[in-house]
Amino acid sequence: MKKLLEVKNLHTSFSTLSKKVRAVQGVSFDLKEGETLGIVGESGCGKSVMAKSITRLLPSISSRIDQGEIYYKGENLVLKRERELRKVRGKEIGMIFQDPMTSLNPTMRIGDQIIEGYALHHPSASKAEMKIRAIKLLNRVGVSDSETRLTQFPHELSGGMRQRVMIAIAMISSPKILIADEPTTALDVTIQAQILGLLKEIQKREQMSILLITHDFSIVAGFCDRVLVMYAGKIVESASVDELFRAPKHPYTRRLLNSIPRLDLSPTRQLYSIHGSPPDLSSKIKGCAFAERCPHAMKLCRDGCPSSIEVSKDHHTACWLFDPRIQRKEA
Ligand SMILES: Nc1ncnc2c1ncn2[C@@H]1O[C@H](COP(=O)(O)OP(=O)(O)O)[C@@H](O)[C@H]1O
Ligand SMILES: [Mg+2]
Repeated sequence: MKKLLEVKNLHTSFSTLSKKVRAVQGVSFDLKEGETLGIVGESGCGKSVMAKSITRLLPSISSRIDQGEIYYKGENLVLKRERELRKVRGKEIGMIFQDPMTSLNPTMRIGDQIIEGYALHHPSASKAEMKIRAIKLLNRVGVSDSETRLTQFPHELSGGMRQRVMIAIAMISSPKILIADEPTTALDVTIQAQILGLLKEIQKREQMSILLITHDFSIVAGFCDRVLVMYAGKIVESASVDELFRAPKHPYTRRLLNSIPRLDLSPTRQLYSIHGSPPDLSSKIKGCAFAERCPHAMKLCRDGCPSSIEVSKDHHTACWLFDPRIQRKEA
């Protein structure tokens, strides 16, 4: 499969008067055509900052991409000006976020919000044409009575309906990539399943690639092809979903997987929570950021951390335990 998006050694930080928060610290990955890539990790590990760096939706005053490249169709988005980025956002790369109540404009009718993005990229489209497009789209994302909905305001809709509207907004210009940042976190499980099902269906039809961000491994299992595990601003493991669930390597991934209930494993299996809390991203960490919480930490883990070790084909982890030299010594 062809690579559609390539992120190389991305570093993004926030600067305040007193400190610098290194939210993303050297992230590299690619997204292939038609693929669904999951990004998992605890809250605060840099998932959203990483996603927002791609289309640069971060506050321009306090945030900065310190280093790295983001290639979309061969062009480095990091070097693009705001005016050029507006052509990419929505049209090439669509986005949906966790909380539709804060992403939707409370003072604007649903119809106008759906059409807004389309009008930006298709200045010659007529109002009537755009309205028909919006109605069709709302029907497709399962919003009933769509003509009336166009005239309503966000507060008149339920949480699930608002998220469907967000999907319609993201889909109106048929983007090649959809970045979905915790798109179902605010919803109850039944609605969550409906929304994920809907995204899958749209993806199949439109041949779209999806970057799905979540803190919930069970969503990754049913939805993604491949997964990246993030910890403290870095990717600590990447593999296909099957491989990651079958043979997780990084101690952090293993702990995360051990902390979720699974129907396919014994009901008497012990569930673990991960002791301690993630490190403060404003302090510089010399070695592996997980060492403090890791039951296998060795002395060398506090001095440095390998960026990526190949454990099998397309399965990588950033942990000394899988360095062949260490394994030989252990044996
Ligand atoms: N606008 C901001 N200003 C300063 N720090 C921020 C801002 N947004 C996020 N951060 C910090 O960046 C880190 C990563 O945040 P985020 O990407 O939102 O985490 P996640 O999405 O994985 O929960 C956190 O330490 C967070 O406090
Ligand atoms: Mg987030």
